[in-house]
Amino acid sequence: MTRSMKNANECLIEVSKLQYQYPDGTHALRDINLKIFENQFIALIGQNGSGKTTLAKSLNGLLKPSSGYVKIDGLDTRVKGTTKKIVTKVGYVFQNPDHQLFSNTIEKEIAYGPKNIGLGHDEVNQRVQDAAQVCGVERGLFQDHPFFLTKGLRQRVAIASILAMRPKTIIVDEPTTGQDLRQSLEVMNFLRDLWLHKGHTIIIITHDMNIVADYAQRCVVLTKGELVMDGATREIFSQPDILAKAYVKPPQITRLAQDVLEYNFPKDVLSVEEMIQAFKKIARKEH
Ligand SMILES: Nc1ncnc2c1ncn2[C@@H]1O[C@H](COP(=O)(O)OP(=O)(O)OP(=O)(O)O)[C@@H](O)[C@H]1O
Ligand SMILES: [Mg+2]
Repeated sequence: MTRSMKNANECLIEVSKLQYQYPDGTHALRDINLKIFENQFIALIGQNGSGKTTLAKSLNGLLKPSSGYVKIDGLDTRVKGTTKKIVTKVGYVFQNPDHQLFSNTIEKEIAYGPKNIGLGHDEVNQRVQDAAQVCGVERGLFQDHPFFLTKGLRQRVAIASILAMRPKTIIVDEPTTGQDLRQSLEVMNFLRDLWLHKGHTIIIITHDMNIVADYAQRCVVLTKGELVMDGATREIFSQPDILAKAYVKPPQITRLAQDVLEYNFPKDVLSVEEMIQAFKKIARKEH
């Protein structure tokens, strides 16, 4: 797997001094500054209520800043009339697919976005087929009601309906929640494929630090609406003390290595394979 930081290319999303307050006064985001570049795989992490979903919804214009700005490909989300363009650039898959799916057939659900931006019949059909295929949504299901699918399949229909818009940046809010291990790996490998081979920028929101270690090259950490860490995943996980303040624990294998530093284990181990390699290296030195 490629975990190295790819060359930071074009800036796709620029967030400056972003504050967001819900109508009831909850101050969910505080002074967020962030740049998202072309072809990155980013994990947005932080405890419950830290503002991840609010930030994600701000990154595609679903929520407008209370102050500060979010610019997508130069388009300011506060400016009226930009929404139709923005949905073709940044797609957001809801934390709960049931908040996103509202059509009475799967085919209509996936076709909704492309139709809504005025694409022709043939183009819409092509996009529906392509998106369904990559998400493993079989044609035989097209006339079914999304309501009767398993949660995992509903999530994939939700992803397909976003993919049909072919946005460069795809944000998936908790892609593996409610899915078994096989389904989780399918969704994650599929997102990685879009990143590695199709040039997309992927942003996942997750509480699963093993997923972060395995897939994300960059990590953004939120605490109580503030952005407290932003960097390469390996560097972020090698600072457990700062992470602890954000109530985030590195993956177990990283913590194991950090517990035995006195035996010369590195503090930035991200996988069991890396741990085994480190162990062999140390054992060889001792003999
Ligand atoms: N519609 C809303 N109205 C008022 N407050 C809200 C609303 N949605 C979220 N909040 C509050 O805003 C803050 C940030 O919530 P948000 O949903 O962005 O957190 P999160 O990091 O996504 O949490 P989780 O991990 O539980 O999904 C929390 O204090 C939450 O209670
Ligand atoms: Mg959330």
